[in-house]
Amino acid sequence: MRPRVVAPLVLVGAILSGVQAIQTVSRAGRYLYTADGNRFYIKGVAYQEQGQAVAGSNNPFLEPITYIDPLSDGTTCQRDLPYLQQLGVNTIRAYSVNSALNHDTCMQLFSNAGIYTIIDLSLPVNGSIDRSSPTWTTALLDQYIETIQVFSKYDNVLAFNVGNEVVTAVNETVAATFVKAAARDTKAYLNSIKSTVLVGYASIDGDSDLVLPLAEYLSCDPSGSNSGATAIDLYGLNNYRWIGNSSYQVAYAPIEALYSAYNVPAYFSEFGSPTNPVTSWDEVGSLLSSQLSPVWSGGIAFSYFPATSAGGNFGIVSISADGSTVTVNQNFDNLKTQYAQASPPNSPSKSAAGSTSYPACPQQNSTLLASTTLPATPNLAACTCLEENLSCQFTPATSNYSAIVGALVDYGCSALGQMGGNCNPISANGQTGVYGAVSGCDPTVMLSWVMTQYYLANNDNAQACSFGGNGTVNTHAPSSTSAANAAASSCLASATGTSVPTLPSGSSTGSSGSSGSTPGTSGAAALDTNVFASVLIVVMIGVVSGMWALA
Ligand SMILES: *[C@@H]1O[C@H](CO)[C@@H](O)[C@H](O)[C@H]1NC(C)=O
Ligand SMILES: *[C@@H]1O[C@H](CO)[C@@H](O)[C@H](O)[C@H]1NC(C)=O
Ligand SMILES: *[C@@H]1O[C@H](CO)[C@@H](O)[C@H](O)[C@H]1NC(C)=O
Ligand SMILES: *[C@@H]1O[C@H](CO)[C@@H](O)[C@H](O)[C@H]1NC(C)=O
Ligand SMILES: *[C@@H]1O[C@H](CO)[C@@H](O)[C@H](O)[C@H]1NC(C)=O
Ligand SMILES: *[C@@H]1O[C@H](CO)[C@@H](O)[C@H](O)[C@H]1NC(C)=O
Ligand SMILES: *[C@@H]1O[C@H](CO)[C@@H](O)[C@H](O)[C@H]1NC(C)=O
Repeated sequence: MRPRVVAPLVLVGAILSGVQAIQTVSRAGRYLYTADGNRFYIKGVAYQEQGQAVAGSNNPFLEPITYIDPLSDGTTCQRDLPYLQQLGVNTIRAYSVNSALNHDTCMQLFSNAGIYTIIDLSLPVNGSIDRSSPTWTTALLDQYIETIQVFSKYDNVLAFNVGNEVVTAVNETVAATFVKAAARDTKAYLNSIKSTVLVGYASIDGDSDLVLPLAEYLSCDPSGSNSGATAIDLYGLNNYRWIGNSSYQVAYAPIEALYSAYNVPAYFSEFGSPTNPVTSWDEVGSLLSSQLSPVWSGGIAFSYFPATSAGGNFGIVSISADGSTVTVNQNFDNLKTQYAQASPPNSPSKSAAGSTSYPACPQQNSTLLASTTLPATPNLAACTCLEENLSCQFTPATSNYSAIVGALVDYGCSALGQMGGNCNPISANGQTGVYGAVSGCDPTVMLSWVMTQYYLANNDNAQACSFGGNGTVNTHAPSSTSAANAAASSCLASATGTSVPTLPSGSSTGSSGSSGSTPGTSGAAALDTNVFASVLIVVMIGVVSGMWALA
């Protein structure tokens, strides 16, 4: 054994307090193993109080528009830890975290208790890949890597999810192209900081025609050279097939068979039943047993906190109005009993698990629309250069601008279309694999680009840059169309292909010494109203679509 040169303080602290450092979990073939070689099964619970969800025809899944970071308030983590320990969980899943806050207390508490975390990188509203007009942009990439940067210092992050139920139907499989690009760039960033945390995706359940090809697409190698560069390492299925009194044969045998040849570690990224009045959680006895162990490595019970949007259903505890006390219900005791009884086989051994391979991609067809030509890595330097050289710039009057960007882009593109122009450079089409040169930039930069085209097409008439008071002429920018286009091409010349993302300079990620707790944010609202629809967190406003057909 190599002598340990540096005695890490954390380890010393752990020994002094009688706590074993949590083991690294890694992938071999289609299974997970702890560093000591034992097979690792996720015995988990979803751990996120619901944000605010507003019902509406454009929000059929009641996706929340706000969130409460569950890992930023040491007091609540301290409050909940004894209950998580009683439950016997080894993993929690957090759906939305804020990279500007400090997570040291919660992460250390959970690490000391042997509890891993699965962290979703997406955020509500504009912080996710939008299934109805998908893109992969600098803004999203930066959000993802800032979160990774903040959490990479902890030893108990099992996986980062690059998306949750982005694709919900066959007509949305085109969005998978952007999810795969997100997996690629997230992985490249993790490699660059020497992190071995797994890259995951949590899928909606559905027809076999949808879910299996999607799973295969996300873990395939388009280059055909057995490279994992664009592949997820961990596949989650949000699975609500076992509701109430069911059985292995009825609920789980079909998916055991469906995924039998899938070679990625897989788990149920959510499972459960309505807890009102009570659920036995007896599916745990099948999930964590030799019935499902050939394909599945455990799962995340949904949910610790009640789903306020679903009338408080699904929760196994309730929290007092002042946030100070936890009351468990019968469903908590049932889950605790089931987890205590579970004893999945410690097999196959790591050496028998086989090597990790990356198969060829499934054929693009009418039910799998995603191209294997992925968009370029979003390039912040190129987009910033472009923004600085655009002669009409989006200058929002409010910091809450994300709600108006989509409308202004649509307006600008149709105005441009009437003048014979088009918005192709900001369009990204995951089906044809054609991506405009500006399509990886922040939506606000795309909007400035649209405004600039319209302004230039109107001979630099300042009125044409107003957009109802949302645009401002940039006097430093080139004023002739040809000079403007030359500057834009020069800025964007480097924004092609793939590259290793870097943190934007000046990003301040969770470095403050405070506990980062946000008093008074004890949780209103909603994650899950439809058990089959699950905890969708996606954009609700269209920003840019590849669909403009401008003459
Ligand atoms: C997919 O189809 C559903 C149902 O027909 C529709 O509501 C949804 O808007 C479609 N999504 C896209 C991206 O076209
Ligand atoms: C569940 O179903 C089985 C088989 O149909 C039946 O024997 C059993 O009584 C049912 N249990 C409950 C609690 O309904
Ligand atoms: C598309 O390909 C997948 C396999 O990748 C297959 O399961 C599905 O049935 C195919 N769809 C059609 C319409 O042929
Ligand atoms: C942001 O603007 C939208 C649309 O104008 C509005 O519905 C929402 O409440 C605003 N959010 C905040 C935090 O002000
Ligand atoms: C979402 O919009 C807000 C302003 O409304 C902005 O601060 C934030 O950077 C945006 N996030 C992404 C990923 O675009
Ligand atoms: C900006 O654009 C939005 C959306 O079109 C519009 O409602 C608003 O009045 C415009 N002006 C300002 C100053 O926000
Ligand atoms: C773009 O603008 C920046 C800052 O104004 C300038 O330094 C740079 O040279 C410009 N790039 C091009 C290609 O004109």
